[in-house]
This record gives sequence, structure tokens and C-alpha cells, in this order.
Amino acid sequence: MPVQLSNGKPLVWDSAALDADTRAMLDNLQPNILQAHVREHLAVLFLQFGDGAGGRRFLREVAALMKSARRHFEEVRAFNASKAPGTPYVGVGISRLGYNKLGHDTVKFTDNAFKSGLKRRKDTLSDPPVSAWEASYREEIHAVVLIGDATPGPVAATRARVLALLPKTAKVVGEETGNGLRDAQGRGIEHFGYVDGRSQPLFLADQVAAERGVNWTPFFPLSHILVSDPLAPKPERHFGSYLVFRKLEQNVRAFREAEERLADALGLTGADRPLAGAMLVGRFRNGTPLRLHGRPSSDGFAVQNDFSYRDDPGSKCPVSAHIRKTNPRDSRDGGLERVLGVMMARRGQTYGTRTDVPWDDAPPQNRPTGGVGLLFMAFNASLQAQFEFTQQAWADSPGFPVDGTGHDPVIGQGEREGKVRFPQAWGSEKRSAPQAQVPQTVTMKGGEYFFMPSLAYLKGL
Ligand code: HEM
Repeated sequence: MPVQLSNGKPLVWDSAALDADTRAMLDNLQPNILQAHVREHLAVLFLQFGDGAGGRRFLREVAALMKSARRHFEEVRAFNASKAPGTPYVGVGISRLGYNKLGHDTVKFTDNAFKSGLKRRKDTLSDPPVSAWEASYREEIHAVVLIGDATPGPVAATRARVLALLPKTAKVVGEETGNGLRDAQGRGIEHFGYVDGRSQPLFLADQVAAERGVNWTPFFPLSHILVSDPLAPKPERHFGSYLVFRKLEQNVRAFREAEERLADALGLTGADRPLAGAMLVGRFRNGTPLRLHGRPSSDGFAVQNDFSYRDDPGSKCPVSAHIRKTNPRDSRDGGLERVLGVMMARRGQTYGTRTDVPWDDAPPQNRPTGGVGLLFMAFNASLQAQFEFTQQAWADSPGFPVDGTGHDPVIGQGEREGKVRFPQAWGSEKRSAPQAQVPQTVTMKGGEYFFMPSLAYLKGL
């Protein structure tokens, strides 16, 4: 039976009744796509091959260090049962130019954004000119190798093994180091200090069962992020996913100043001041959704994700807030979001070190203005219909979801003209006086589009 990518049900990956094609799919799919892999410590190597034969041999040998999605699920289960540590994550992505270098035509790939490469999509995305990107990203990038684990030791050892396999004709054109950032409660946060990585599309039955919602259904079919691997030996059972990688630098000081200015403009005092930042993000720093609460819930609770904006015209969560712009979830079943099939599986990691306490209320002056940020990564079935659509048609469009919304205050790119209004108080139908949009505090420093092929493809090179 062919692999059912959208049969309306979450995948029961350990079912004895699983058909042979779906089994083969899971045995050949890279980890970290269907379920996030631990990558508290992460090495990201960007490679350029000098010749096709060397590149093919290298990737074939790296495949021997990789595990399958199924093996990853089994490791997660073992860890949950007995804290048995898993093995490091090794993931491989190949760019359009990379495939060409390996001697493969990309005509069979369905995604035009992938086939163009990120550099040629910069105008669509209002990205900075390539000349302003960091040097390594201005180079031709053929492949990316991601190495992740809970502790630094296995990452360092695996990185050394990967580099030892690299042929003399190839070079490392760039490298990033991701380090998980956590708040005092151990929750994963991004550099502006907010809990991140919470709302994700879920594909596996055990994950969906653990997060059943009344107002929001996190289940999405596999067709959201999996596509047939057109160059694999058996494309009907070998699958992959498109990866967008973007290095997004965060000017934390400027964002904190913007929070303060907005709090002043809205007349917020004392314990109400964090409402300003929450209006920009859509959640308070500890993850409390503004749609549900006007003050942060007490710490120690599970970060809520069971809400939609159905009955909120923007008086609780402003329509301009980052999480509302990027996932309008206007009904339990996703409404517009699900109809368009936009939601990506976000798998980013923070980079850069901090000498201040990222989640506290210390004044903006002591915050970094650069050198820290997010290695944004997300898996897509279509880069055009998911990542690019989210960035361009939603985040960068001041008229989405309604006229006067303004840019996404966190990731919006392009001229931020026009003023925006916020609720005068949480839940109030009255709007504030028009406010200048907050300045852009996230800067794209470079990146690339990749396809994460099946293990069958890599082993057969
Ligand atoms: C959610 C921050 C870049 C799309 C979030 C959340 C935070 C956050 C704090 C809330 C936690 C959660 O629900 O997971 C940031 C920062 C970024 C960034 C600081 C850049 C430095 C992006 C980009 C995109 C994006 C580039 C897509 C183009 C999303 C989506 C959600 C989200 C889809 C989930 C919304 C939901 O389902 O409720 N982000 N983000 N983010 N972000 Fe971002």
C-alpha cells in the first residue's frame, strides 16, 4: 500500500499493522523532521564540494553515522522510560547547487523556491542584499550537516568524525554553533527572553494524544512536511523534506527598548508593564498566551497552547502579534491556516553567548545589540507555500490579517510605514492612540534552502 501522507489520522509509528511502504519510509527518513531531536548543543557545517565523486563518497560515508526517524522514535521512548541517553543527531541537507555538483538534475523537485536557492529569493522575502550577508553565506553552499545532542561531548566527537571524512577537494565554507538558551525554570527560550518552540504541528499518534486540545488541534498530516524523494531508489517509499535555514541576528537591546517605549505609550505600570512585550510576541516571557491571560500565569505550569483567535478581534491578543501573524489559527481546526497548509515544523536553535540574564527585567542598556540570535530552521513540504508564504504574505504584509495591522513586530522585513493601534487594556474593545511600529530588531545574515533526502538516497550515492 502506498504511504498515506494525508489519511486524516496521526501516524501510529509502532503499530504492528503498519504497511511495508510506511515502514520503509520511516527506516529511510532522517530524524528531527517528524519529531524534534534534542539539539541543545548543535554544530552546523556548510560545505562546498570540489567534485561530484568526492561529494558523493563523503555523503555516502556520513550516511553511516546517521539514524532513521524510526530509530529516533525508539530512542525517545527508551529515554522517557528509563532516561537511557540516545545517540547524536546527524542530519544532511543538499542545496540545488549541491545536487548539480553531485551530478544530479533537480528537474524532478517540485519546489521552485528550492530550485532557485535562497539568494535568488531575497527580493520576494525583502531580505538584505547578498553583499550584506555574512561571508560564508555569500559562498556557494552545496550541503549542510547538522550534528546535535544533549551534551557537547558527543557533538564534538561526531563533528570530528564528519570532518575526517571530508575529501581534500571539499571545503567547509561556514560553521554555526547552536546552544540552547533556558530560563530559570529550564524552559527553552529565545534571546528576547520568551519561551520558544512551543506551538508545533504534531504528526505522531503518541504526541497528539499527549496534547489533545479543545480549541486548537495540533495534529497535521504528514503531507505538511514530507515529500517523495525524487532521486531515491524508490520514491514511492523514500521521503524527505525541504529545510529553510536562516541566521537571524537579534538586537536584544533595541527590542527591550521598544517594549519599554510601548509600555510607556500605553501607560502600563508595575506588574502590567510586561503586557507591552506580550503584545508584540503574543505570549508573555514565560509562554503564557495573551489570548488566554492578561498577566503571566504562575511559573511551573505547562505552557498553554489550546486556544484559537475565533472570538478575539484583537482585544486580547493584538492581530499584529508575532504568533498571531505567523499562525492565525482562527478556528479549532485551523481555518485559514489549515486550509492553506502553511504551518511548518520549526526546529531552530539559539546561537551566541550572554553575560546578562536573558529572561530578567534588567534595563535594556546592558543587553547585546548583536552577536546573538536564532539559527532559524524549519521543515516544509513546500518552501513557497509555507516558509515563504508566512514571511512574505503574513509577517511582511502590513494588511494581514486586516488593514492597519502593520508588520510582524519580531520578524517583519521591509519598510515599516504606518502606525498601529493596540488594545488600551487587556480585553478592552477600545484602541490606543496610533503608535509608530516598533523598529526592526531581527536581521537576516544569510542562509540557504536544502532538501533533506532519504537515507536510501544517501547510502546509494
Ligand atoms: C512562535 C520568537 C522567527 C514563525 C514563536 C514564539 C516566539 C517566537 C517567542 C512563541 C513560542 C511558540 O509558540 O513556539 C521568534 C524569534 C524569531 C522568530 C525571536 C527570530 C529571531 C520566526 C520566523 C518564522 C516564525 C522566521 C517564520 C517565518 C513562528 C510560528 C510560531 C512562532 C509559526 C508558532 C505560532 C503558533 O503556532 O502559535 N516565535 N520567532 N518565527 N514563530 Fe517565531
